[in-house]
Amino acid sequence: MWVACGDDGGALDPTDAGGIVPFDCEVRDAPAGGGKIPDEVLGVLEVHCYGCHGEPKLPAAPMSLLTWVDFQGCHFDGQRVPNYERMRIRINDEQTPMPPIRLPQLDDRERGILNRWVQRGAPQAP
Ligand code: HEC
Repeated sequence: MWVACGDDGGALDPTDAGGIVPFDCEVRDAPAGGGKIPDEVLGVLEVHCYGCHGEPKLPAAPMSLLTWVDFQGCHFDGQRVPNYERMRIRINDEQTPMPPIRLPQLDDRERGILNRWVQRGAPQAP
């Protein structure tokens, strides 16, 4: 079980679905293994993101981005923005990009893969 973080979702850690769930959050059954991220997207995440948002997670990084549910949820900072939308903002942010500016940046192809996935609502791989 996990808590979806949509526009009307709550500011909840998706792993915290056992806690108190505000009325406007949607509690769903988690897909097996947390849901599958499309291979093309996973390829980019593995190269550029999982050094910090993977396993083990860098302590300073707010959340893991290993499963589809990780992207649908919110990290717990009191705001109702799903992690996939936060990703979209940061990979297109020239001032404070992800990956952080001192590291090799996404190229246009890689950024396009992630942007197109988010534009489609970050669906699970079939
Ligand atoms: C070198 C480690 C590192 C790498 C690599 C990295 N991140 Fe991060 N990320 C962080 C840290 C630390 C934070 C928290 C500080 C901040 O928001 O800048 C963060 C924050 C975030 C956030 C939360 C932003 C918010 O609004 O709260 C998202 C989303 C994110 N990263 C996505 C990504 C994605 C996607 C990639 C790969 C394309 C990536 N990161 C690569 C370290 C990293």
